[in-house]
Amino acid sequence: EHRTGGSATAVAHPNIALIKYWGKRDEQLLLPRTDSLSMTLDIFPTTTRVRLVPEAEHDEVSLGGAPLEGEARRRVVAFLDLVRERAGSDRRAVVETENTVPTGAGLASSASGFAALAMAAAAAYGLDQDATALSRLARRGSGSASRSIFGDFAIWHAGTDEDGDLGSYAEPVPVDVGELDPALVIAVVNAGPKAVSSREAMRRTVDTSPLYEPWAVSSKDDLADMREALRRADLEAVGEIAERNALGMHATMLAARPAVRYLSAPTLTVLDSVLQLRRDGVPAYATMDAGPNVKVLCRRADAERVAGVVRGAVPGGAVHIAGPGPGARLLDEGG
Ligand code: PMV
Repeated sequence: EHRTGGSATAVAHPNIALIKYWGKRDEQLLLPRTDSLSMTLDIFPTTTRVRLVPEAEHDEVSLGGAPLEGEARRRVVAFLDLVRERAGSDRRAVVETENTVPTGAGLASSASGFAALAMAAAAAYGLDQDATALSRLARRGSGSASRSIFGDFAIWHAGTDEDGDLGSYAEPVPVDVGELDPALVIAVVNAGPKAVSSREAMRRTVDTSPLYEPWAVSSKDDLADMREALRRADLEAVGEIAERNALGMHATMLAARPAVRYLSAPTLTVLDSVLQLRRDGVPAYATMDAGPNVKVLCRRADAERVAGVVRGAVPGGAVHIAGPGPGARLLDEGG
């Protein structure tokens, strides 16, 4: 707070997991059951400004200019409390966030959101954090945010029970991005907020799904195979592994009691179009998160064609093309 004058602005991008995070082993510390691996996007950034206000009694939190309320506000304030505890400060803050992605629709807005908040809040409160520490901190806001601290490809280590909080952070995975030449074609079939939060859905899946443990076990093999495929810059293998890991994750939810089903009819229509693309010789593979939207992994060179086919499959749905994007960074506030 002395170093920065109590104000900082950070920007972060969402990430899409190719090996999914699904299931916590510690709800308080947001420690995951399995390792996960993602690509950070070059679209949909979140920009967050944190400004300390010495005289204020409450935090003021807004998203897109409108005050945040309820559970969303509570999560941000709890996160600020954690930062304040570490910084030995009791100052309240004004937190202003601009999202360019629909919030709460399985498009990873919480990943970019908490990565940007972690970086801006740490700087505003004068916490001296390296990238590993920032990744751990972002994890406490939303698990997947730990990965958005880094650009391109990142792995989030579940860590061990012995190491607890300290052992669970993300780090970059070296990939020859030029050689792999990946794109994610994002089909937004429904931009509305989801009916079941990922937090609740994970809890229910871990507690009740007979398919959860088998998926968690097979996800270890998927991760090992994924790392090898990325090392070879083998897009077909990367896509096949990502698709099977995601479908398996959704299978665990479908088997939960009661079932959690994010996949809708338009989702399946897009999945059919991805299969048709493959039959036509275009390497394209699907992954889905806690929502009905589909992200299609393909080569950048094929992305326009893939986007065209996907657009035809969901008339009225928006389609975006993303490439590998940058890690979170502080913006110069220019005094
Ligand atoms: O970080 P959360 O609670 O929004 O969890 C996101 C989980 C998935 O997006 C479904 C998978 C992942 O690894 O990002």
